[in-house]
Formats: sequence, C-alpha cells, structure tokens
Amino acid sequence: MRGVGLFEFGGPEVLRMVDLPETHAAAGEVRIRVCASTVNPTDTYLRKGARAEALRNVSPPYIPGMDVAGVVDEIGEGTATDLAVGDAVMAMVVNSGSHGGYRESIVLSADSLVRAPAGATLIEAATLPMNGLTARQSLDQLALRPGQTLAVTGAAGCYGGYVVQLAKADGLVVIADASSADEALVRSLGADVVVPRGDDIAAQIRKVAPQGVDGLADGSFQSGLAVGAVRNGGGFASVRGWGGDERGIVFHRTSVRDYNHRADLLDRLRRQVEDGLVTLRVAATFPPEQAAEAHRRLEAKGTRGRLVLVWTNP
Ligand SMILES: NC(=O)c1ccc[n+]([C@@H]2O[C@H](COP(=O)([O-])OP(=O)(O)OC[C@H]3O[C@@H](n4cnc5c(N)ncnc54)[C@H](OP(=O)(O)O)[C@@H]3O)[C@@H](O)[C@H]2O)c1
Repeated sequence: MRGVGLFEFGGPEVLRMVDLPETHAAAGEVRIRVCASTVNPTDTYLRKGARAEALRNVSPPYIPGMDVAGVVDEIGEGTATDLAVGDAVMAMVVNSGSHGGYRESIVLSADSLVRAPAGATLIEAATLPMNGLTARQSLDQLALRPGQTLAVTGAAGCYGGYVVQLAKADGLVVIADASSADEALVRSLGADVVVPRGDDIAAQIRKVAPQGVDGLADGSFQSGLAVGAVRNGGGFASVRGWGGDERGIVFHRTSVRDYNHRADLLDRLRRQVEDGLVTLRVAATFPPEQAAEAHRRLEAKGTRGRLVLVWTNP
C-alpha cells in the first residue's frame, strides 16, 4: 500500500513514496480507499521537524496529511454507522507517525468521518474537514451573537475563507483583509467590508470599526499587529495559541485536534456546502509522486484554494 512520507526532517525533497503495511478496520472503525489527500501548511511544518520532539520515540516513516476523501471499503465488525461500503466520505485525520492523510488507504474511527457533500467531487470534498472544523472551532470559541462584528485576517486563505463564510452563516458582520488581487475573492465569500491586508491591519480595521471589533480570527497569524483591532473585552482566536493580558481581551487557542471525532460538526459543514453557504476551493492537483512539488508550491505562498494529492481518479 502506497503512502508519501519522510524518514528525516528537511526540505520538500525528503518526501518520498513509501510502502506501508495494509491495515484493517476493527470494531468502531471504517477503512477508506483514499482518493484525495490535501496539502496543508501544517504538513510542511511536520516535514521541517516542528514535531520532532513529540516523534522522538516513533519510528519513521512519518506520514503527513490531515484530511482525506475517498470511498468506504471496509467497516469493522459491530461498528455503529449509517455508512456502507462504497459510500463517498471525507474525514479529518489527526496524524501521528505513519497514521497520516498521505496514504491510499486509511482506517479511521467511525465518529470522525461523514458522507462527502452531494454535488462535490472527492477532490473538492477533501478540502473541507480540517480547515472547516478549525474555522468552526474559532467561531465557537469566540461565541459571538448574530449582528456582532468579526474581523478575519488571512481571509483569502483556506481557514480564513471558511471563517468568513461560516461567520456570515452565523449572522455576524464580517470585516476581512485582502490584497487588491484577492479583494474580489474575499467579497465573493461574503465579507461585508474588505480592508487592505498588511502590517497596519489593526488601524485598517479600526477605520471601519472605530470602537473595535467584538472578535477576531487571526488566520494570517499577525498576533500583536492584529490585536489592536479588538475592542476592550472582545475575543481573539489564534491558530497558534498566541495571546497575553491586554484590555480584558479573551484569547482563545484554536486547535482542531480538539474537534477530532466530531462527525456531528463535520456533517453540519457538509450540509452547509450542499446549501451553498460554504465554497470548496481547489488550487491544483498533483499525483502523490509529486508531493514535494506540492509542498514547494505551498511554501512559495500565494496559493488560493487547496493543493490536493490524488491517488485514484474518482
Ligand atoms: N491550530 C490549528 O488547529 C490549525 C488548523 C488549521 C490551520 N492552522 C494554521 O492556520 C494558518 C492558516 O492556514 P491556511 O490553511 O488558511 O493557510 P493559507 O491558505 O496559506 O492562508 C493563509 C493566508 O494568510 C495570508 N498571509 C500570510 N501572511 C500574511 C501577512 N503577514 N499579512 C497578511 N496576510 C498574510 C496568506 O497570503 P499569502 O499566500 O500571500 O502569503 C494567505 O492568504 C496556518 O498557519 C495553519 O498552520 C492551524
């Protein structure tokens, strides 16, 4: 069984095709024949050694990848699920060691996968689970009421784009950043106001929200440059857990691993795609043999939509 993995940390060139033992679904588990595996920024951090300490006692190959879409091909005996062999599904993968999304077959807990959205290809479906759940988590943490104002940085990105769309579906007023090249895209996602991205993001947001916004989701990880946009006592959601003691602001660490096993939330995202509230964006596809090229492209910045490794043509 093929996967893409690494034996030592480093540049994109450390990614290589690896042979992995076949696995089977036990009770409570489902096996997916993977069609599509997305390439996310976190995969590049893993590749570069960001989790080297945590993996110290784990034997390589390390398999990156945090979401997949494919077809159910085995259900563990006695597993409670309404899925059947042959169903098209998508899932977030909380990767660890050789359990990662870059593999052509993966066994997952039945409570972490759901049907793929009707009308979407499996390649498109693969782009939803991890970043959609992360966006959902940031919004849940901020817990704003309809009519309150949310600012989103990195709004043209995968996480930021989902935050914008889910926030609009929650009834929030959304101020989002964009370069001039991305302005039309971010508007099309539903942002009420688009401000220029940059190091002066806090001042740009204050120009349109002088009292400060009720919450901010910081997809571009601008942290101290962005926090000035938040009103006293507002909320700040950081994808990397940044925060301090400032003006009564409540800082939230968004960590999507906390939303593992939340098929209920993922299924709601599926319905929001089917209802046209959430858009799936694919930038490009690559055969698994070209995973290194996909990493190079992601690290070159400017990708809009997700890069996807395709194992089988759906
Ligand atoms: N903690 C978690 O559970 C979790 C889960 C998902 C994602 N994340 C993290 O969330 C972040 C965003 O992920 P993503 O998939 O949305 O990445 P992405 O698709 O690359 O989007 C990031 C966006 O931010 C923009 N950006 C980067 N630096 C900027 C700056 N200094 N000023 C303004 N805009 C800037 C990027 O523009 P350019 O392309 O032009 O640079 C891009 O539009 C990543 O750090 C990722 O690791 C964390």
